[in-house]
Amino acid sequence: MKSIASKEDRPPGRSARSGKAAAAIAAAALAFAGELQAAETAVTIRADQPGPTINRNIYGHFSEHLGRCIYGGYWVGEDSPIPNVRGIRVDVVQALRKLHPPVLRWPGGCFADTYHWKDAVGPRDRRKPILNVHWGNVLENNHFGTHEFMDLCEQLGAEPYFCANVGSGTVQELADWVEYTTYGGRSPMADWRRANGREEPWKIRYWGIGNENWGCGGNMTPEYYARLFRRYATYVRSYPGNRVFKIACGANSFDYRWTEVLMRDAGRYMNGLSLHYYCGSGKKSRSATRFDEGDWFFQLRNALRMEELLRRHIAIMDRYDPRKRVALIVDEWGAWHAVEPGTNPGFLYQQNSLRDAMVAALTLNIFHRHADRVRMANIAQTVNVLQAMILTDGPRMLTTPTYHVFEMYKVHQGATYLPAAVECPDYAFGGEKIPQVSVSASEDKQGRVHISLVNVDPNRPAPTRCRLEGFRPGRVSGRILTAPEMQAHNTFDRPDYVKPAPFGEARIDGGAIVLRMPPKSIIVLEASGAAEK
Ligand code: AHR
Repeated sequence: MKSIASKEDRPPGRSARSGKAAAAIAAAALAFAGELQAAETAVTIRADQPGPTINRNIYGHFSEHLGRCIYGGYWVGEDSPIPNVRGIRVDVVQALRKLHPPVLRWPGGCFADTYHWKDAVGPRDRRKPILNVHWGNVLENNHFGTHEFMDLCEQLGAEPYFCANVGSGTVQELADWVEYTTYGGRSPMADWRRANGREEPWKIRYWGIGNENWGCGGNMTPEYYARLFRRYATYVRSYPGNRVFKIACGANSFDYRWTEVLMRDAGRYMNGLSLHYYCGSGKKSRSATRFDEGDWFFQLRNALRMEELLRRHIAIMDRYDPRKRVALIVDEWGAWHAVEPGTNPGFLYQQNSLRDAMVAALTLNIFHRHADRVRMANIAQTVNVLQAMILTDGPRMLTTPTYHVFEMYKVHQGATYLPAAVECPDYAFGGEKIPQVSVSASEDKQGRVHISLVNVDPNRPAPTRCRLEGFRPGRVSGRILTAPEMQAHNTFDRPDYVKPAPFGEARIDGGAIVLRMPPKSIIVLEASGAAEK
């Protein structure tokens, strides 16, 4: 078999020879020969050329008042038979804490631009209900508001990221929210907070000024939003003891003009600019669990487009901000499948398979490569919505394959990025191809090197040799996430069908780490050893 050299960050492309027949012949040949003699993947990790810190906020989460994310997912109320602390589910918090969640974005999403925070503080039985117009026209009783969210963040050990209402709110409403939550002196808002049971101000660094203001957040042009942003941002004050970080609403996927205008007209007033990219679902089937290899390929190819998106948005930001002061915040990303049969279409409840785990692993590897600019990301959404970490069914709870990726990858949080070059065969399907292997590496504060490797090919293994420049590995261990089928997922009756297992097959050979990645697998290796001059 001929090996095709490819660079890790090469954008996915079309092969010259296309056509279903050629692909079918190639697939059959691979099925026959692949197990016997797959081409070797060569990885070179530059421990001698360390890059930026991988901001732990890249492993952030997003929870919206949408479907069963907040209500049922986190919040069951103090009188619930489901074990809870002050109304918040114990099982969900315990599971999420294992991911070391750094930051949690709330209350939306599209919901944020309909949210009036004052309706959701004070005694719960007196809170004003509203209609959740974006997500199923259900009644929102506002029982989960600012105090409950801050309690959740404290229970999770996560920093809060508030997303403020620009679409249907007012500047005064936002200024009051900042004063209510973060001002420690005497003032009407701070005193109201005290009357509602919270003496000390909270520390709330991250403030998003609107959400998707090009769409559900007001259908604005970038010029109009940039002006509004400047005005709203003026009143998001850093009160003593709290330093705010202002995040402007960024582009929808490939809308580079939005980034251009925002950086040009408002760049100097912001600390971060967001970006939303959902990589969709399969080509023929949009089901989360009933799909074929064509759908698998299509989804992973689209996930890899995050690389191109980041490059192009960052190139624009670099022109206006060459010192990279403004962070790129990918505060919504992930797969978006059809809702599970029989569930409310407005609730975006979807299952989560090994394919979603691949999406997560590939995307996190891409974020690492842009760690100097991408300093926060928030996968959508934490519980019961879109590409979730956790699914619940009444008192039952399960962790998804995506959860396991976040758990395996947490070793990269706050570590130093190490550049990795990859030469690997292509994974080709239907006349298109993507690199078979994706790799990312980092060095933690204890001097251990972690290497995350993804073999996206569902049919062929990837024999791999990792050379580490500037690091001599003495010991290597690892964990693997894989399953017999592409569609493998966890259910409430079989919650541990997809879960990580120890991977003992990596060995050290002539100073390199050698392993054979099974088809459709995600592996995280840990190498301890000594730095080499
Ligand atoms: O995450 C679901 C929705 O997707 C969010 O509310 C919105 O911002 C985006 O369009």
